[in-house]
Amino acid sequence: MPPEPSLPRPTRALSGIQPTGRFHWGNYFGAIRQYIDLQPGAHQAADEAYYFIADLHALTTVRDPETLRGFVRDAAIDLVALGLDPERAVMFVQSDVPEVTELTWLLMTVTPMGLLERCHAFKDKKTRGLPADAGLFTYPVLMAADILAYDATVVPVGEDQVQHIEVCRDLAGTFNHLYGDVFTLPKSRLVEGGAKVPGTDGQKMSKSYENTIEVFEEPGPLKKKIMRMTTDSRAMEEPKEPEGDHLYELYALFAADTDRQAMADLYRRGGFGYGEVKKKLHEAAGQYFADARARRAELAADPDRIEAILAAGASKARVKAGDVLARARLACGLDRKPPKPSAGIAR
Ligand code: TRP
Repeated sequence: MPPEPSLPRPTRALSGIQPTGRFHWGNYFGAIRQYIDLQPGAHQAADEAYYFIADLHALTTVRDPETLRGFVRDAAIDLVALGLDPERAVMFVQSDVPEVTELTWLLMTVTPMGLLERCHAFKDKKTRGLPADAGLFTYPVLMAADILAYDATVVPVGEDQVQHIEVCRDLAGTFNHLYGDVFTLPKSRLVEGGAKVPGTDGQKMSKSYENTIEVFEEPGPLKKKIMRMTTDSRAMEEPKEPEGDHLYELYALFAADTDRQAMADLYRRGGFGYGEVKKKLHEAAGQYFADARARRAELAADPDRIEAILAAGASKARVKAGDVLARARLACGLDRKPPKPSAGIAR
């Protein structure tokens, strides 16, 4: 494999998020918050950021058209409400960029079956004896195209997606080896602490465990879910270690430093009830998302605005993906007429 191209390129962050339901605290602290931090102009910014709603990937699980449309719309509204800024990041819907599906095919032709057979989404389904379709099987190739189409250099993801980034690098390397330096090899970037968002039962928060709390949960159900969270049955008086206690860990995500410290002290002293902690968690979470909730209400009342944001994002994304696709088509011999030098084969 040729060495990684050493051209000084800008840092381009990219990530996709599946619209398979409303976002929960795990999605926010595990992924979305990092996307926001990587937007140009932010604290740990990249030079460019691309974020998309992965509706093509969601098609492998969401089979009802109205449901899918609703999830995509809600995802877009939620992301902007939470702080993704369409002025600073390119925000779009995956299927609005058809260049990516063409690129998927080009990559498919250099993808060994064995590589996909080892990928966990497919493997898990198979070991559970469930039927898998070719969409699920080739899911990592579409994901590789998502990344390579924008010359992404950094892909912020959770632990479960790292294998897919490796597949992407592998495919890009093979293609480059065959056809020359076409694709930029990306690096994954693990979301710090992302794996540690506990759910209402103390296990990792995940839809498959039915232990999630949605970011924009209505106040009534929010309170109910928090009040019903699992706790242990140790006596109130007993001093407790805060680290490792899921109520404390959730509270720590929302609370300011001094409040978090005060809570940790309370745990170590003992003499408190979990009901108290739950009340504080409810307050802190409510406050944390209060501004986003207000923005969400405004955005939800203005569907044209969200559509315009997505349309503008898609046109920017298509320019970039079109350039990369042109490079790939030319390299592998699909283009009979090489494009003129100005026709966008630069990175
Ligand atoms: N597969 C990712 C997930 O389920 C979503 C995704 C699709 C993605 N394409 C991507 C993430 C490209 C990063 C880069 O979470």
